[in-house]
Amino acid sequence: MRFPGQAFTQILIAVAVVLAGVMVMAPRASAHAVVEQITPADGQRLTSGPPRVTIRFSEAVQLLRPEDLTVVGSGGQPASSGGGRVLAADASVAEVPVAPRLPSGTYTVRWRVVSADGHIIPGASVFAVGDVPITPPYLGGPGGGSGPTETSAWAVTARWVELVGIGGLLALIVFRLLIWRAAWSPPPRIPAGERDSTLAWGRDAWWVGFGALALVALVGEATVLVVKTAGSLGTSVWGALADPAGIVRVLADTRFGDLLQVRTLALFVLFALGVWRFLVEYRSDAAPAPRDADGGRVPMLVMLVPALVALGSISAQGHASTTSMPGLQVPVDALHAAMAAAWVGCLAIVAVHLLRLPKVAGAGGRLVAGLALARFSALAVIAVALLVVSGVIRAVGQLSSPEDLWQTSYGWTILVKIGLLAVASVLALRSRRIVAAIRRGGATPNTATLALVRRQAWVEVTITLVIVAFSALLVGQVPPIS
Ligand code: HEM
Repeated sequence: MRFPGQAFTQILIAVAVVLAGVMVMAPRASAHAVVEQITPADGQRLTSGPPRVTIRFSEAVQLLRPEDLTVVGSGGQPASSGGGRVLAADASVAEVPVAPRLPSGTYTVRWRVVSADGHIIPGASVFAVGDVPITPPYLGGPGGGSGPTETSAWAVTARWVELVGIGGLLALIVFRLLIWRAAWSPPPRIPAGERDSTLAWGRDAWWVGFGALALVALVGEATVLVVKTAGSLGTSVWGALADPAGIVRVLADTRFGDLLQVRTLALFVLFALGVWRFLVEYRSDAAPAPRDADGGRVPMLVMLVPALVALGSISAQGHASTTSMPGLQVPVDALHAAMAAAWVGCLAIVAVHLLRLPKVAGAGGRLVAGLALARFSALAVIAVALLVVSGVIRAVGQLSSPEDLWQTSYGWTILVKIGLLAVASVLALRSRRIVAAIRRGGATPNTATLALVRRQAWVEVTITLVIVAFSALLVGQVPPIS
């Protein structure tokens, strides 16, 4: 296996620097909050109304609005005398004052708090005043809506689009630095005309991909924010869209919002660098030379940093940050996401673009495609190995015992991911054998062989994108250790 050399080392250094930054960005956060105590207790009967309702959570929580903790009567009439609040002295305790002289009846306490991992924790309990039968909690009326949950189709789709956009941008940079560049060094012996058209095609395709994925990443971020707002405020996604003040509150007042701001800033830095490089690369009408195939190693490495920060900030906001070892789990999660992005993204570039190259540049294009394919195949082995190791470390950090794998829905999602990875690996090994045969022969691969590899790559891309969808579900589920 030809080792990917200096650029690979530089990428590893960039990844290490960003992982260290992610560790700094992710101080020990509190975990997925659960109610430890509520006063009056659920189902308690009192002779007169309490002065206030107090809820103690297992960890610090945030209340986005005072009305997110309230007391209502059995018909939904307000029974609190003010808004809910989290105690300044102890952020794990929330309380709401109760109206004086409550008449006999059943009262519902309703809450919707945000835990440190960004999950919304809604809940309700009842108490009765006087000798009356206790009725079920009243969940209707304003504030009683549920909004999309973390595992709803809306939330999972939004996270999937976000991962595809940011992961795809990262993969584009990795592809240019490690794969496309390697295919041109040393420059393959092909006619000058084919060389120029192949290089120009590679450059154009890269920038079209960059523009498209920048759009996908922005749509992903906007959708994640709106869906999170809907979940936080207990309204529909369309209701959240019509509530800019609610969106601003989620962005400004939650830990999720802070990290989304970091991510958006990183993306805009990346786009600004992209515009600069685009103008530089297209300044002259001449076709790029083989030594410019990577668009400039230093600028690409610089662009890699905001892409890694954007992806790492997703890890800094999730379950990894709420484990007992965030200093280990957050960087491992970021590494896992980066390797997933590099593998799936470069695979997609191979399937969608690279293997169409022979149509543009004939035999010369086939030779370049074969060289790039061999390099991708070598790198994919490293990426998948790191993906598996980091995935196992992440799973160990979130599961309390092996039985959690089949006794919890979180565990089942991991099992489905492993099963799909096994199927994708079988296909990848088949493609790898074909690529190894091409390399051994040392000849230009023929059209039929490349078409076969392309068909297999498409199936692999589909399976791996489904794995990413299950990962988007996994981060919304409640892990056994949370
Ligand atoms: C042995 C196989 C694997 C295991 C055990 C595994 C396990 C995990 C675990 C435990 C998490 C953390 C979820 C959380 O924060 O609660 C995760 C996240 C993730 N995994 Fe995997 N995974 C595996 C393979 C894969 C593969 C093959 C891909 C891609 C094709 C992938 C993509 C992702 C992504 C994108 C995330 C989300 C990272 C984030 O948002 O922070 N995983 N995985």
